[in-house]
Amino acid sequence: KNIVILISGTGSNMAAIVRAAERGQWARRHHAQVAAVISNKADAAGLGFAKEHGIATAVVDHKAFDTREAFDTALAAEIDRHQPTLVVLSGFMRILTPGFVAHYAGRLINIHPSLLPAFTGLNTHQRAIDMGCRFAGATVHRVTAELDHGDILDQAVVPVLPNDTAATLAARVLTQEHLIYPRAVERLIAD
Ligand code: GRF
Repeated sequence: KNIVILISGTGSNMAAIVRAAERGQWARRHHAQVAAVISNKADAAGLGFAKEHGIATAVVDHKAFDTREAFDTALAAEIDRHQPTLVVLSGFMRILTPGFVAHYAGRLINIHPSLLPAFTGLNTHQRAIDMGCRFAGATVHRVTAELDHGDILDQAVVPVLPNDTAATLAARVLTQEHLIYPRAVERLIAD
């Protein structure tokens, strides 16, 4: 069972999933592996980590395409070379077309740094602080055509502390993301 992970930057969630697959009995039991890490940015730091771990990498630069549809078609072609059971968005900062989402229906997931359905979109941590939220968190969810919607697969909650900045809150949430995202991948692969 092949897992393909899409990143745009650091890829720390991708790294957490790779490490979990390397360590985990579940990966061996289900013949599961991270088959490829694909980025829309050539300078995404996570590509280096993937290469060091012997994982195939590819770049599909969205700037080389005139339309979202053309980019998504090229991206899907690259993904489908690996015949994925699961496609994992991990800090992948592109909005995907309905056609792309439909093509991967049932096998496309994302992690979002808020307690969905609150705070879809960007700047989730600053918005949670500004609203006076006592709690924040992260959500693993299925991807549908509507941004940051789709069934919730797992969540983690963290407190918002009195002196939090967006950066300190983001760091607290991210440590939880690294726990729940590999766990969700494992559960889906086992199904
Ligand atoms: C994470 O907070 C994720 O929830 C959001 O972007 C961040 C990506 O971090 N979508 P990383 O690239 O996995 O380190």
